[in-house]
Amino acid sequence: MSNITPKLFSSYQLGAIELPNRLVMAPMTRSRATNPETAATDSVVTYYVQRATAGLIITEGTQVSPQGVGYINTPGIYSEVQVAAWRKVTDAVHAAGGRIFAQLWHVGRVSHPFFHNGELPVAPSAIKPEGAKAFTGQGFEEVPTPRALELSEIPGVVDQFRQAARNAKAAGFDGVEIHGANGYLLDQFLQDGSNQRTDEYGGSIENRSRFVLEVVQAVVDELGADRVGLRVSPQGSASIQDSDPTATFSYLTEQLNRFGLAYLHVLEALPGHPMARPEGKPAIGPALRQIFKGTFIINGGYTQETAEAALANNEADLIAFGVPFIANPDLVARFEQGAALNQPDFATFYVPGDKGYIDYPSLHEAAQPTAAEYQGN
Ligand SMILES: Cc1cc2nc3c(=O)[nH]c(=O)nc-3n(C[C@H](O)[C@H](O)[C@H](O)COP(=O)(O)O)c2cc1C
Repeated sequence: MSNITPKLFSSYQLGAIELPNRLVMAPMTRSRATNPETAATDSVVTYYVQRATAGLIITEGTQVSPQGVGYINTPGIYSEVQVAAWRKVTDAVHAAGGRIFAQLWHVGRVSHPFFHNGELPVAPSAIKPEGAKAFTGQGFEEVPTPRALELSEIPGVVDQFRQAARNAKAAGFDGVEIHGANGYLLDQFLQDGSNQRTDEYGGSIENRSRFVLEVVQAVVDELGADRVGLRVSPQGSASIQDSDPTATFSYLTEQLNRFGLAYLHVLEALPGHPMARPEGKPAIGPALRQIFKGTFIINGGYTQETAEAALANNEADLIAFGVPFIANPDLVARFEQGAALNQPDFATFYVPGDKGYIDYPSLHEAAQPTAAEYQGN
């Protein structure tokens, strides 16, 4: 790394906000909204405050409506109680000097009747996601074939995102990231393996992009484009496929240019990563980087070294880190000081409780003598 000038720690103007560094905390579901309202708890406040030195925090996927739920204990942003709870998070993160976007999420077909009073989850088409399982609290259960949304229902789903954007503003977020990745509702409309509609939302790439672009427009109308990002994952999610992802995602990216969004966030993990694209398939991200006229974030398996190399090669403007931020609340300081990283405890990624959530030590804490050491025993 000695022959490249480090860029990770340089500031960056991201749409409406200035970031002190180029490390983004990737959105990560942690399943700690363990109350009947699925609102953020005091532990959620602590978790994000601990990570406030990130250039930008993107929250875990946050459902825009009851219809958008697919997992237990994930937070929502559609009720007053949820908005008030998020307000505590954003106030505390801002007081700690941080910046935070909410990730707006609708799972579509990746759900279970358990979450919908026995009704089927909704999707563009009645096509079952292969191999997908839902965790309902009674263990993992098979995801059923969803119900195709009626044409007349689609404006209402777009409005769920519009209202969620309004709520995010009321909750004090600096902006939002629309979750268009990982096989959830927006991705289901985009990719032809999950969208076989014959109306204006299916068929051609233009038609399959329509729902995503309508959601983007609705959210931009509420917040202004400079506070809105979109996340996509052109390949790599096992439950969803497209017959020509390069064409689909290139078209979408061209269309995004007309909004002037704060950013496009592309999850296309490096080879060897659990979320990496199938072997032998070329990367699509570099083509999207060329097309997109705005801030480009990449994610998936980056280390400090590979992140610096990607910035030096102009592959992106910002790098998002996921798992490293779970285990290292002060990841920025650790990178800056060349300090060792804590190892993640995978068993506590999605389970209730503070263990493996807010108890990873910061460098400062690690340097404190324990009570036993103080007493000399
Ligand atoms: C525990 C966990 C939860 C995740 N939840 C989300 C999520 O809610 N929304 C999302 O877009 N991606 C989610 N992801 C994917 C991450 O944002 C990221 O893309 C992935 O971890 C790869 O980046 P990394 O190698 O830096 O960890 C999740 C990943 C993990 C490990």
